Amino acid sequence: MSAYADHIATVRARFDAALSATGYDSVLIYAGQPRVAFLDDNPAPYKVNPLFKYWVPVIESPKSAIFYEPGNKPVVFLFKPRDFWHAEVKIPVEEWQEHVELVVIDEQDKMTAWLGDKLKSAAFIGEDFAEPVASWPVKARNPANLIDHLHFHRAIKTEWEVGNLREANKLAAKAHIAARDAFMSGASELEIHHAYLAAINFRECQVPYNSIVALNEHGAVLHYDVYETQAPAESRSFLIDAGALYRGYCADITRTYARKPGFFADLIAAMDVAQQELLTEIKPGINYYELHVSQHLKIAKILSEFGFVKGSAESIYEQGYSSAFFPHGLGHFIGLQVHDVGGFLANDRGDTIARDSRHPFLRLLRDVEVGQAFTIEPGLYVVDQLLEAHQGNSDFNWQRIDELRPYGGVRIEDSIVVGENGRNENLTRDAFAALGV
Ligand code: GLY
Ligand code: MN
Ligand code: MN
Repeated sequence: MSAYADHIATVRARFDAALSATGYDSVLIYAGQPRVAFLDDNPAPYKVNPLFKYWVPVIESPKSAIFYEPGNKPVVFLFKPRDFWHAEVKIPVEEWQEHVELVVIDEQDKMTAWLGDKLKSAAFIGEDFAEPVASWPVKARNPANLIDHLHFHRAIKTEWEVGNLREANKLAAKAHIAARDAFMSGASELEIHHAYLAAINFRECQVPYNSIVALNEHGAVLHYDVYETQAPAESRSFLIDAGALYRGYCADITRTYARKPGFFADLIAAMDVAQQELLTEIKPGINYYELHVSQHLKIAKILSEFGFVKGSAESIYEQGYSSAFFPHGLGHFIGLQVHDVGGFLANDRGDTIARDSRHPFLRLLRDVEVGQAFTIEPGLYVVDQLLEAHQGNSDFNWQRIDELRPYGGVRIEDSIVVGENGRNENLTRDAFAALGV
């Protein structure tokens, strides 16, 4: 069986179980359509419904839909309008078409006519802000129990999905190298951003999230997505968090660079060691929360060793000091979505795992299982808003922190696929290694 054949068989089985558990005969998954700006007719970039691209690697066919009734082949209604305003939608012959019934439609009403009464017992999943979708006589719209069931099981990737994640990482790694080289040659943030996109022939709306291209102190802004057009007088440091998409699957990679050897380069090296040590602790059965705490302790040790904060790693963590420097979560599931779903689900019935107020931004609280894909992305930054709470605290070496501020901070982010007994695959480092980095 090919990897895709195996994948779609798994998706079918997961939908069979979810529909049976929640009492629906069938499901209609709408791909979505672009929204237009307020009082305008310009569309925003279109992003397909993730549960649509879970079935078929078709990400640029708005107004399409998939109907699935257990026992029958999924029916893909591919929307191909007769329209002289836009370029024709091309449908290359690909393997997925052997596993579905393909119905090309040029009007959405043709789909509803084809489905007839079946629509009335179907659960609808998708956005329904536009007509005629808003008026389709379906049984339920986006039922939470059905979606939770599907989201819980999406955490375990099929081989085909892992293959796509691997390719997405290869693309992103190639672009990261181009961005690093642009930084080293003194480029502005916008020039680096363009170098990244050009290296993989992507347009801006094709990357899975706004790339973070941050020089100097901008590295401390966690979701910095301003692209300065002028290079700073001195480019000291560079933090880039940027991904790529392959067949609908996402890469999400962060690297940090120093322009010159010295204290910041040493800090990057220490964070790299701490991240790689953490990677050795990923084993089925351990809870992701434990990994997060373990990474905090390693960062607390770095804070102490580099003289930013006084005390042992344990005391720095216990007093909450490390959270001032590493405020975000260790990582998240990754797949069809950058922040892939299901990180708080305790089971497929939709029970949730309570968030911990100590680590409110941690998006993944599940036990580690073979086949999960997630990121590991420790960071250490000078975020003045967070340091304000510790003002006047003599455990903090403010002079040393002042030395770090002009560099922003460090983050290193890889994507991992969990294997048996710690035999994990690091999609990101493998991608860089294949390029000789
Ligand atoms: N790029 C967003 C994140 O790392 O979660
Ligand atoms: Mn991430
Ligand atoms: Mn990232």
